[in-house]
Amino acid sequence: MPDDSPAIEVRDLVKTYAGVTAVNKVGFTVARGEILGFLGPNGAGKSTTMRILTGYLPATSGMVNVCGLSVATHGDEVKKFIGYMPENNPLPDDMRVSEYLHYRGRLKGLARAKLSIRLDEVLELCDLKRVRHRIIGKLSKGFRQRVGIAEAILAEPPIIIMDEPTIGLDPHQILIVRDLIAGLRGRMTVIISSHILPEIEMTCDRVLIINQGRVVAQGTPADLRREVFGHSSYALEISGDLEAALPEVLAKVEPTLAISETGVPDATGFRKLTLATSREDDLGEALLRALSADPRLRLRALTRVHPTLEDVFLAATKRGWEAIDAPKPTSK
Ligand SMILES: Nc1ncnc2c1ncn2[C@@H]1O[C@H](COP(=O)(O)OP(=O)(O)O)[C@@H](O)[C@H]1O
Ligand SMILES: [Mg+2]
Repeated sequence: MPDDSPAIEVRDLVKTYAGVTAVNKVGFTVARGEILGFLGPNGAGKSTTMRILTGYLPATSGMVNVCGLSVATHGDEVKKFIGYMPENNPLPDDMRVSEYLHYRGRLKGLARAKLSIRLDEVLELCDLKRVRHRIIGKLSKGFRQRVGIAEAILAEPPIIIMDEPTIGLDPHQILIVRDLIAGLRGRMTVIISSHILPEIEMTCDRVLIINQGRVVAQGTPADLRREVFGHSSYALEISGDLEAALPEVLAKVEPTLAISETGVPDATGFRKLTLATSREDDLGEALLRALSADPRLRLRALTRVHPTLEDVFLAATKRGWEAIDAPKPTSK
């Protein structure tokens, strides 16, 4: 495989199912060793994209290269580069954990001697040693999920793709899976999907926000915040002469401050506003002083806002709908 090629390169990927466009001109690149998150609501196209990357589903059009090889023409080779844990990973209920992993390892072409060493490593890494002789069908969801992850990393492929690896797990099991993924950092290229924001934020170097088959935003969690909300923003609760006095005072503090209304005015006439600026440094004290000093304004609260990935997600998906000019879903 050519050494300088990115782990994954996707361009203009389209997938239609009987007239329904599930993936619509998606493009992105994943560098080697990177942990990338696919974030998006149900039906966004995450699983479809993953199935195409892994060679299990043909694309309608577009280009997907894995380690420099085209999935369309080198599907079998590409499958060897990727450990894939599909959504609702189906496992054989009547096999024992180590028996199943041994069988999968043989199918992946691992030699017997190497396999037994690797099996021990993977059981340890996935915290499965205690259940290695148990029947898979009798395991809890958390253990079953880890068997799926163990299988994906078994042959030490350069790329791991996991579709919703933490779905249905309790918070403790989520922590174990998160640590496991973090342990792959730098050694393998990883793509995980989730519709849960903190999950993606804590685990991933970079995030693609996917909505209605399109990439609506991408970057590090910090980049995304900045792109959508500016470098810093402040939440105000204020009343008085907001038409003339407020812009006048703000312009003296920082001319680039942009005002937007974030809440509805309450019965006392106070309004909730957000101020955004591309300045990195904290303007809180200057704002507080200037706004309190003007007799035409009454300031009740001022805080610096740190938008969550959830805010970014909501803003980016809204922007996506506006950008593609499609009818908005009525029930979301
Ligand atoms: N096999 C299929 N046949 C028809 N439509 C499908 C099929 N699989 C997925 N879809 C549709 O494609 C869209 C994307 O689905 P999916 O990739 O599963 O999204 P996600 O994983 O983000 O929830 C959805 O509208 C879904 O209903
Ligand atoms: Mg899915």
